[in-house]
Amino acid sequence: MNETTRLMANHRSIRRFETTPIPDNHVAEAVRCGQMASTSSAVQSYSVIRVTDPDKLYRLAELSGPQEKVRRCGAFFVLCADTRRHRVLCERAGRAYENSFENLLVAIVDVSLFAQNFALAFESMGYGVCYIGGIRNDLGAVCEMLAVPQGVFPVYGLCVGVPAESPGVRPRLPGEAVLFENAYPDDETLLGGVHAYDEIYRSYLSERGAEPRGWSDAMVGKHTTPTRHDVGPVFARQGAPI
Ligand SMILES: Cc1cc2nc3c(=O)[nH]c(=O)nc-3n(C[C@H](O)[C@H](O)[C@H](O)COP(=O)(O)O)c2cc1C
Repeated sequence: MNETTRLMANHRSIRRFETTPIPDNHVAEAVRCGQMASTSSAVQSYSVIRVTDPDKLYRLAELSGPQEKVRRCGAFFVLCADTRRHRVLCERAGRAYENSFENLLVAIVDVSLFAQNFALAFESMGYGVCYIGGIRNDLGAVCEMLAVPQGVFPVYGLCVGVPAESPGVRPRLPGEAVLFENAYPDDETLLGGVHAYDEIYRSYLSERGAEPRGWSDAMVGKHTTPTRHDVGPVFARQGAPI
């Protein structure tokens, strides 16, 4: 492994941080790295809102769970799929913006490519990160609090900071379970490595002091429990063609 792949392979989410603030030059460097991710046809359909107002951080922490780390970290960001620039440019050019699912998907893909480069850049500086999907618990409130206009879709937050814990690396499915050659496999092959992985995952959770549960069991639980029903309607209000 080289220095870059070692950094990537050692990723683990950090959920307890020192409150030491992140210097602006580190944020600017990470933004630069985020921006240098590939972006469909250079559309760059993303934006990131750094939240520094203590009242807003408090509310965001509450509505994300509560998740205290949102307000107790070095910096907290809200990452948005952003089609607004393109909409405004089209409007100013007197042309109709094509409000398609494809354009929304491009923006969601783009912000995620930005986000992962952004996060990795911080990790390379020695900071820990944790994505926060919890902001989608009440996305309408987030949009209102951050004055997010039509055409902008907050998708997740990101806590960044000096780690105050050192958890182990969370095991992933074996590589063969996600890398296929030439064609998609049948379901038996697809689930072939899952049983062994369930055991590895259970031991990992148990070592962390968490409820030891197989990955399959956790996935069945997660994907049969309704959550965050208002994400679709909020996206629609923000202008998504759904
Ligand atoms: C989009 C996204 C949203 C997430 N939301 C949360 C969250 O709200 N709270 C949290 O503690 N972890 C959150 N996570 C972290 C995941 O739980 C974590 O990445 C996953 O369990 C794998 O563990 P690892 O990052 O330590 O390898 C999120 C991760 C992603 C990619």
